[in-house]
Amino acid sequence: MTDSPSQGHSRRKFLKGAALAGAGAATAGMARANDPAISVQPWMQELGDGVDAAPYGSPSPFEADVKRRNVEWLTADPVSSVNFTPLHDLDGIITPNGLCFERHHGGVAQVDPAEHRLMINGLVDRPLVFTMEDLKRFPRENHVYFLECAANSGMEWRGAQLNGCQFTHGMIHNVMYTGVPLRLILQEAGIKTSGKWILPEGADASGMTRSIPMEKALDDCLVALKMNGEALRPEQGYPVRLVVPGWEGNMWVKWLRRIEVGDQPWHHREETSKYTDLLADGQARRFTWEMDAKSVITNPSPQAPLTHGPGPTVLTGVAWSGRGTIPRVDVSIDGGKSWAEARMDGPSFDKSMHRFYYDFNWDGRPLLLQSRAHDSTGYVQPTKDQLREIRGVNSIYHNNGIQTWAVDEKGNAENVEVS
Ligand code: MTE
Ligand code: CO
Repeated sequence: MTDSPSQGHSRRKFLKGAALAGAGAATAGMARANDPAISVQPWMQELGDGVDAAPYGSPSPFEADVKRRNVEWLTADPVSSVNFTPLHDLDGIITPNGLCFERHHGGVAQVDPAEHRLMINGLVDRPLVFTMEDLKRFPRENHVYFLECAANSGMEWRGAQLNGCQFTHGMIHNVMYTGVPLRLILQEAGIKTSGKWILPEGADASGMTRSIPMEKALDDCLVALKMNGEALRPEQGYPVRLVVPGWEGNMWVKWLRRIEVGDQPWHHREETSKYTDLLADGQARRFTWEMDAKSVITNPSPQAPLTHGPGPTVLTGVAWSGRGTIPRVDVSIDGGKSWAEARMDGPSFDKSMHRFYYDFNWDGRPLLLQSRAHDSTGYVQPTKDQLREIRGVNSIYHNNGIQTWAVDEKGNAENVEVS
């Protein structure tokens, strides 16, 4: 406690020092010699809130605009809809829990963990029912993974439509999960040799189910209890969800209540009429589970215009791949005519979001911004036209084409396409 006043004192000293430095140094147009706001402000003249003001903290009221948003015409009914992560307001690679996009087919189940159970049945030696406390007695692991809905960017198949990376790319979040390897839970029940597939089922009103091959179940799937260190949020499947790294979000069953082991896929609704990719010839691709490498520039973008004039400019964005890491992202400021390698920064985890920066001197002329991800398998993110050539425009899912933002002289950005 005794060090608080002296901390305040040294902060004021630092601010004074900073003002002096600003007055003397050449700052390449990034700051002013004099700014009246550097003088003593009201918040320096009164005591702040005590430690009892916010037992569970929340962001500054000045950040109130940083929030999930939905698209009205996509939201016939909020219990079967989606909202989007504000990618343009975030940095680094971790999505804060309160900003993770939500996709529900039957609303958010309010589950009492004491009454909730996880059942393993079907082709197993010992059908078992676990309490949440039972699950905590298995060895657990921590991993950062992205979850991308297969429908992310789905509204852009026929052309540029939504103005903002929150809406074009915001059906994704990137979180550190704490969970039990699914392998350990399945082994506890004992998988019969005929057991080749699993069917996870949710406890929400939609009773979400998906068929997942046993190979993936035994590889890296997690039965997750925590996200970013704390309990899962109700929106994300509290108290327990399935994590299926690198694979489409629909398979990450929330409010997980049962896993059936079977000898073949079940062909349920979400893997037949939905989450299949209708091609131009009327045939549908099925079981397209892996999310292809993709990237998007988050700043500048339509919701985050450039607010300064020409000069030093920080461009940034995110990239990810369901097949590994992202060793490289290229950036173009002229609509794909020329490319420069972006600077990757922050941790690089398998099947996780990566952060890239491109620090350049804006000459004040209009820009056509694009980013192109390379993943650790050598795969390169395609253009939207290349995708359409092979896949047509009938599909909703798995659109990982290169995004273009047009930035005008004033710094305002718009969703466009170049060919
Ligand atoms: N699990 C259940 N039980 N119910 C659901 O509606 N939606 C799926 C998947 N798991 C869903 C579910 C879809 S389509 C996606 S994209 C992800 O959860 C969304 O996860 P999120 O809400 O954490 O973003
Ligand atoms: Co989805």
